[in-house]
Amino acid sequence: MSGPFAYRGTDLWVEQLPLSGIVEQVGTPCYVYSRNAIEDRWRRFDTAFGMAAHRVCYAVKANPSLAVLGLLAGLGSGFDIVSEGELRRVRRAGGDPRKVVFSGVGKTVAEMRYAIGEGIDCFNVESESELERLERTAAAMQAHVRVSLRVNPDVDPDTHPYIATGMRDNKFGIPIAEAPRIAAAMKGMRHLVLVGLDCHIGSQLVSLAPFEDAFARILELAQMLRASGHRLEHLDAGGGLGVRYRDEDPPEPQQYVDRLLAMLAERGLSDLALIIEPGRAIIGEAGILVTTVEYLKSVPSRRFAIVDAGMNDLLRPALYDAWHEIVPVRRRAGPESTYDVVGPVCESADFLGRGRQLCIMEGDLLAVRTAGAYGSSMGSHYNSRLLPPEILVDGDRFEIVRARAAYETLWAGERTMGEQAPLVTPLSRGK
Ligand SMILES: Cc1ncc(COP(=O)(O)O)c(C=O)c1O
Repeated sequence: MSGPFAYRGTDLWVEQLPLSGIVEQVGTPCYVYSRNAIEDRWRRFDTAFGMAAHRVCYAVKANPSLAVLGLLAGLGSGFDIVSEGELRRVRRAGGDPRKVVFSGVGKTVAEMRYAIGEGIDCFNVESESELERLERTAAAMQAHVRVSLRVNPDVDPDTHPYIATGMRDNKFGIPIAEAPRIAAAMKGMRHLVLVGLDCHIGSQLVSLAPFEDAFARILELAQMLRASGHRLEHLDAGGGLGVRYRDEDPPEPQQYVDRLLAMLAERGLSDLALIIEPGRAIIGEAGILVTTVEYLKSVPSRRFAIVDAGMNDLLRPALYDAWHEIVPVRRRAGPESTYDVVGPVCESADFLGRGRQLCIMEGDLLAVRTAGAYGSSMGSHYNSRLLPPEILVDGDRFEIVRARAAYETLWAGERTMGEQAPLVTPLSRGK
């Protein structure tokens, strides 16, 4: 095992600290991230561009922790957001709104207003109706808004269907064949300026081929739009580069960026800046979820290790049947048995891993690896469980960057009926 999480003797360490020492102070379940791994991954994307004009816009949805955003803002990162909440987090963490692109199929008027007011760089627009709404909103604010058309290139990304986004029948983006007509219609929209094209075809892609297919279509469209007088400034290839959960061998950031830059050059479009929106590939391998074995239990057909982290803490196994490596924080000598590692949540889908070979006893700590992306960010209070704390390790020190929540947070903003003011006030009619 290599990277920021590695064994020294029998114990799993993160950077220069034994995990068991952190857990003694914060308890389990908890997420633990490595600062150096996060920064190293971001820099690998950034430096891969050399002198070429570019921006790495971290996809906030992968992990919106203020501490993670703050680290990346400190490196000069841009951000890809999909909601007002994400933009507010970026601002709170010190991110520069002029480096923000706003994706997502369902932007509300309120979200548009907030983002325009904050002065974000660009809206990645996903439909004609959204374009018209954005024009009206910008006009009302007397603003001029930069727009990129998110096109759907109809490419099979060869990933889990729930994270495929660039196929014809997906809800994302504008069908690529319609883009020239919509771009032409934009010439009549006085408050919008078409500056770019973007696509995002899916997540956890482990080969370059689908990226190449999609990007080739975007480049062809860019040439077509230029020929009809549109002054494009950038292309945005989206995110999606995969990580290693088990035995995948995804391309390195340098290989990925080299290929995109080479394709730009082949088409004579090197004057366009390139934006990318990686999420998982920056934060995925930089985080783990640590959990305690509460009970070992056998039924005739199998053994269960019942742990104190569940699908509300890490949804990916239940949602996508995703595989995460599960390892002991302290290795024991002795024979291994086969366990289904399951959580305490009242669902049969509540598992972290099935059929795992482990030598464990009740009370042992387990680490669920590659949990930095879409782990904490997909967490919920289901079964009225508290969100786990988050720890950021930097060399031989750590900070609790999200404290273990108090039980009162479970019902914040709620009240029983009749308590204080009534919950629902009738809307006033007319006027
Ligand atoms: C528009 C957009 N950009 C970027 C990303 C980040 O993808 P990944 O984390 O796979 O890099 C996503 C993920 O869904 C997305 O929808």
